[in-house]
Amino acid sequence: MVKSLELEPEDERILAGERGETRQKMLEILVALGTVFGAQRLVPVNSVQVSGASYKTIGKYGLEWLEQLDARAVVPAVLNPIGMSRERWQEMGIDRDFADKQMAVIAAYERLGIRLECTCTPYYLSPIHYGDHLAWSESSAVSYANSVIGARTNREGGPAALAAAIIGKTPCYGLHLSANRKPGMVIDVETGGGEVSIAHYGALGYYAGKIVGNRIPYFRGIRPDADRLKALGAAMAATGAVALYHVQGVTPEAKKVSADISCLETIRIDMCEIEEVFSQVAVDAVAVGCPHCSPNELKTTALLLFGKKVNIPFYVFAAQAVIEANRDTVASIEKSGARVYADTCMVVSPVMERYPAIMVNSGKALAYVPDMCGAVVRMGTLEECVAVATS
Ligand code: F3S
Repeated sequence: MVKSLELEPEDERILAGERGETRQKMLEILVALGTVFGAQRLVPVNSVQVSGASYKTIGKYGLEWLEQLDARAVVPAVLNPIGMSRERWQEMGIDRDFADKQMAVIAAYERLGIRLECTCTPYYLSPIHYGDHLAWSESSAVSYANSVIGARTNREGGPAALAAAIIGKTPCYGLHLSANRKPGMVIDVETGGGEVSIAHYGALGYYAGKIVGNRIPYFRGIRPDADRLKALGAAMAATGAVALYHVQGVTPEAKKVSADISCLETIRIDMCEIEEVFSQVAVDAVAVGCPHCSPNELKTTALLLFGKKVNIPFYVFAAQAVIEANRDTVASIEKSGARVYADTCMVVSPVMERYPAIMVNSGKALAYVPDMCGAVVRMGTLEECVAVATS
C-alpha cells in the first residue's frame, strides 16, 4: 500500500503484521484514510465512540466481520446506541431472534475491549476536554465534542473508529487541524427576545442544516445553554453535514475565529420561519431523548409528567450511566407510565416501527424517523409532547 503519512517505528511493525493480523488490518484502514485525506501523521486519541452497534443497521455481514477480529482497544472506547435496552428488551417487545443477534454484536465488541456503554452522549460519561483529540462516530456526539467542548474529532465511520480504538490513534486531518475549524458562513438569528425552547433549537438546526450543507456556521443572536446547543448541533448534523459550529459569546472557539467572519456570506433566520416544522397530526407514541437525555432533561420530563398518566406509549432515551445517577428522577417519570430506556433510541431500535405516527421534540429525530422507522413524525416541545400523551 502506498502511504503518504509518517509512521512511528511501532506502527511500521504493526503494519508489517508483527502485532497480529487484526491490528495490521486496523492500521491499514487508518493509513488508507489518512492517505486519501492527505494526513501527514497519526494523532493519539484519548476517547473513541464506535457506531455500527445496532443489529438493525449492521445486519448479518457486519456481525460476521466483527466476530473474526482479534485484538483489544488500547484507549477508552464506547458504543453508539444499539437496537434495544440490554436489560429491558423483552418489555420493549423486541423479538428473541433480534435480541440474540444484538447480544452477539455486543459480545463481539466486548471481546474487542469496547465498553458496553451504548450512547450518543459519551460526553456525559467521562470528562472530555478542550483540545482533546477523539475518534467519535455519531454525528450529534461529534458536533457536541467539536463545538460545545472544543475537542477535535472528524465524524468517523464505524470501522475507522474501531481501528482508532485498537491502534489508539487516528489520521490527523480535517477537524483535527486548526486551519479547518474556521467558519464558512454567518447566521444571524432573530429570536424575538423570548425564551427559545430546546425543541425550537432543534428546529433551527433542522432548518439551518439544509442551508449550511458542509460549511461551518458562525451563529449570532442566540444564547443557548448546553442542552440547546446539543439539540441545535444534532439537527444540523442530520439535515446538513455540520460537524462543527460556533456561537458568538457561547462556544469555546468562537472568539478565536471571530476575526475570520467579516468577508463571509451572512444569512438571517427569523425564528418565526421555523414554526412550519411544528405540525399538529395525531400520533400513536411519543419519543424523547434524541440525542440521549441529559440529567436536566430527565428532571424536566419528570416535573412535566408529575401526577399525570400517559395514554399512549411515551419513550424516554438516555445513557445507562445517566439513568443510574438519576434513579429517583427516572422512577418519577415511570410512575406516569412513560418508560426510560438505556442503550437504544427511537431511530436505531426496531421497536418504533410499529407506530404509524410518532411525536418527537428533536430536529434530528424529525429528520430521521420518517425513513428509519417508516412513520409520520410530528415535532413539538417537550411540554407539548407531555400534553399530547396525557390528554
Ligand atoms: Fe442519538 Fe439515536 Fe438521536 S443515536 S442522536 S438518539 S437518532
